[in-house]
Amino acid sequence: MADPVRIAVVGGGYGAKIPLPAYVELEEFEPVAAWSRRPERAHELAATFDLQLGTADLDELLAHPGLEAVHVAGPVYTHAEVAIAAARRGLHVLCEKPLAASLDEAEQVVAAIEEAGVVGAVNYGRRLQQTRERLLQRVAEVAGAPRMVSISLVHADHAEPASRPFTWVQDRAMGGGRLQGYGVHDLDLLIEAFGEVEDVAAATEVGVGERQTRDGEPRTVTAEDAYAILIRFRGGGLAHVSLTATARHKRGDIIEIHGSEGTVRLGEDRVLWWGRAGEELQSEGPLKADSKAAFGQVARNFHASIREGAAPDPSLAEALRVQALLDAIHVADDERRWVAPRPT
Ligand SMILES: NC(=O)c1ccc[n+]([C@@H]2O[C@H](COP(=O)([O-])OP(=O)(O)OC[C@H]3O[C@@H](n4cnc5c(N)ncnc54)[C@H](OP(=O)(O)O)[C@@H]3O)[C@@H](O)[C@H]2O)c1
Repeated sequence: MADPVRIAVVGGGYGAKIPLPAYVELEEFEPVAAWSRRPERAHELAATFDLQLGTADLDELLAHPGLEAVHVAGPVYTHAEVAIAAARRGLHVLCEKPLAASLDEAEQVVAAIEEAGVVGAVNYGRRLQQTRERLLQRVAEVAGAPRMVSISLVHADHAEPASRPFTWVQDRAMGGGRLQGYGVHDLDLLIEAFGEVEDVAAATEVGVGERQTRDGEPRTVTAEDAYAILIRFRGGGLAHVSLTATARHKRGDIIEIHGSEGTVRLGEDRVLWWGRAGEELQSEGPLKADSKAAFGQVARNFHASIREGAAPDPSLAEALRVQALLDAIHVADDERRWVAPRPT
């Protein structure tokens, strides 16, 4: 007996692409309502996913009779307000990454969730994709302490001004940028693999500086489409994490871990290599990098926390550690210096 959790999804972009179809399929959930900023989009979501309610009125959504949980999937700058409003109504919260626009805001979300005594979790589901889940297992088995870690992402989807309209994603004040899109998943992976970070240096850049809104108005892009981050782990070891979204030829993610005891490497072909010092590297793959399957696991974990009291996974504590790192990266970039993340 799955005892389905009645859930609403706030956000009809990513929220309608992965979470809503997953909630329809999973026996652990009954999706009952959806919010979108435009009423016509909200109504379309309700019709497509056979929901009881589609609305652009957040209060109406949160007051929906029988509702138990909310998946927060609007722009990053709206996460805290929505998550806090949901918790205060006694609703469990699964929030998209990053948890909020800053560590201060994220801590307010965590306080509201704790005060309400509801379950809170954050969708750092990328680490549950087979490629990254297996990489983390091999790191624990063979790597030892980190000596040099490298994560390199190369995308081409922002290379042309017309490839994307100007939305909150291109607006730093609204929490946009490729760090919130992809970087936070890689920071989460590093923390999961190696724990605490001593300090960071970072540079971000906007490669395509002007885009048009959907209505054809030209706007200046303020959120980064490229970044390069240097990390020093507490206790030693370095990492560099980079992304460009404006390359002319995309390629798969490359992750390399050179540890005190061994090596783990994920190639762009999704083949994973690993070995201890003195051994030949072994390989498996190509492995899968399936976002929908990974989200299904996040959702099932959320259900187990609500119905069985299991520890949330990914947890709010993990989300705060990423958020502290993200704040430090922004300060390091703005002030061009090394910055220690605030302890959480
Ligand atoms: N876990 C993952 O792998 C993953 C992947 C992608 C995105 N995400 C997360 O999902 C969240 C939403 O991203 P998205 O790409 O889905 O965004 P989006 O498509 O631009 O918008 C999502 C929702 O927010 C509304 N919205 C758009 N701009 C708004 C604004 N300025 N103010 C208020 N509401 C606004 C949209 O309403 P209308 O369409 O009705 O205008 C839509 O319902 C973000 O937190 C992002 O980090 C997570």
